[in-house]
Amino acid sequence: MTGNTVAVIGLGAMGIVAVKNLLEEGFDVTGFEKSGYVGGLWHCTEDRDTLSVLKGTPPFPSASMVEEYLEAYVDHFHLRPHFRLNATVERIVHVDEKQQWRVDVHGEEARYFDRILMATGPHDYAGKRVLLLGLGNTSGDIAHALVPYAASIRIAHHRGALIMPRLVNGQPVNRLVTQRHINAQGFIERFSPSLVENTLNKKAKEVMTNSFGVPKPEWGLEPAPSMMVTTPVVSDTLIDHLRSGAVASVPGVRRAVGPRQVELVDGEAIEVDVIICCTGYQNDFGILDPRYDPSASQNPHWTAAPGSKGRPLPRLYQNVFSLGKPESLAFMGCVWFPTGAFLLADLTSMSIAQVWKGNSDLPTRDVMQKWVDKQEERMVALAHRGSPIPASVPQRQWLVWANATAGLGVFERLGWGPKGWLFWWQQRDVWRMLMDGVLTSVMWRLFDQRKRKPWAGARAELERLNKEANQ
Ligand SMILES: Cc1cc2nc3c(=O)[nH]c(=O)nc-3n(C[C@H](O)[C@H](O)[C@H](O)COP(=O)(O)OP(=O)(O)OC[C@H]3O[C@@H](n4cnc5c(N)ncnc54)[C@H](O)[C@@H]3O)c2cc1C
Ligand SMILES: *[C@@H]1O[C@H](CO)[C@@H](O)[C@H](O)[C@H]1NC(C)=O
Ligand SMILES: *[C@@H]1O[C@H](CO)[C@@H](O)[C@H](O)[C@H]1NC(C)=O
Ligand SMILES: *[C@@H]1O[C@H](CO)[C@@H](O)[C@H](O)[C@H]1NC(C)=O
Repeated sequence: MTGNTVAVIGLGAMGIVAVKNLLEEGFDVTGFEKSGYVGGLWHCTEDRDTLSVLKGTPPFPSASMVEEYLEAYVDHFHLRPHFRLNATVERIVHVDEKQQWRVDVHGEEARYFDRILMATGPHDYAGKRVLLLGLGNTSGDIAHALVPYAASIRIAHHRGALIMPRLVNGQPVNRLVTQRHINAQGFIERFSPSLVENTLNKKAKEVMTNSFGVPKPEWGLEPAPSMMVTTPVVSDTLIDHLRSGAVASVPGVRRAVGPRQVELVDGEAIEVDVIICCTGYQNDFGILDPRYDPSASQNPHWTAAPGSKGRPLPRLYQNVFSLGKPESLAFMGCVWFPTGAFLLADLTSMSIAQVWKGNSDLPTRDVMQKWVDKQEERMVALAHRGSPIPASVPQRQWLVWANATAGLGVFERLGWGPKGWLFWWQQRDVWRMLMDGVLTSVMWRLFDQRKRKPWAGARAELERLNKEANQ
């Protein structure tokens, strides 16, 4: 019988919400964080070895507002007594004879836990040096920050990109994705995946040209890869800078040919003083017992696919549970589809808490293994067409799983079944907010399914958020 103690490793946004959702279900939780603060990458730091937002990363909400929100969340749910800051976890080993995990914290005696939740977040592997490698959110932000100072700014990239404004019709761009879209997409996908893909790409292109006009060929934005394999770059300023010439687009870099010279893939050599790699980050589970590292063995088809770019693909059931030790080892931050990260973290940790509490079952090992094999196949196919985020999961299917596992009660109320009709009939205003309103974690706390705890204030908060968004 497994006991009640859980170690959460890392107290970024993911770790914080996991501690909260596990405490809520009665687990004895300790959260370890190597830095002296919580909030992870939302805490702006100049430390070169630590991944963090830039001061200007998002204008609204600003990084410091997000950090303040996380701090307030920690206080509101009285999480601090469960946190250990300045505690670097160096090693996590499963001790077979004890059936427990030993957690080695730097400079301290080892401690034992029944369960482990990894929330160590993305690790930086970017170099620091004005040629920006890679066209993404980071290079868009850095280019904008450098425009007033740099002599010249070039962005080197191999592929086109979709550029999205932060606001469309005065609403954040992610407001375009509502539950209704997710449902419609899930429905149509069963019959015609390519129809969904084409519609999505057309819509995205429309938003881009409506906001910024038709892109010029020399900006290198076309053809943009499909939304299915790459996510759009969110920037209000990049196209203006390309148009004014403050930022230039160049083909990918082949090699460095001198201390201040690089050769591009088209053969041209250009002079640069500084190179900044904006090539992204990856999950790193190096502290974990190698027997249970989900990225220890890699599917050769994935590694060989051009879009994998050396990034590991974690092998986890629903991108959450360890295949070897699902009853005691789970991971945050390996699930991704286009929605807010905090919302995904809430759903993931509610699901983990319900499974570990025994309220929801995992399928047999065989079924979990097959799910992972299928997921890998999907990712390999995507990596032949573009460069997908390794954590990508099929969104509708994953939500259906989270619905049943955490006990959300939302989807059947929005469906075509009797429950859906009744709900639509009786509570049309709530139905509308769920279907077309802001996608917020509050939705998951409305109904009591005898699994995760409902929240009595959920409905009022849902109304408040929607009112505010529609102002
Ligand atoms: C502007 C912006 C927008 C974003 N938008 C989205 C979005 O829409 N959707 C999405 O999915 N993602 C998004 N992300 C990316 C990211 O998923 C989220 O920002 C999220 O906050 C990441 O949280 P995390 O807890 O996983 O990682 P982190 O914030 O990196 O936290 C990990 C923590 O673990 C600690 N840690 C690491 N190793 C150890 C160790 N050995 N011992 C102890 N502690 C350790 C670290 O110090 C750190 O505090 C966005 C990021 C930015 C900057
Ligand atoms: C963590 O370490 C920093 C720097 O040494 C120190 O200022 C801070 O007070 C410590 N915090 C805790 C909670 O121990
Ligand atoms: C850019 O950021 C947005 C959220 O702000 C995210 O949804 C998108 O996936 C990011 N794009 C890339 C290429 O990382
Ligand atoms: C959501 O989960 C519940 C069990 O909690 C289940 O009865 C229902 O059918 C699920 N709905 C969908 C659409 O999967």
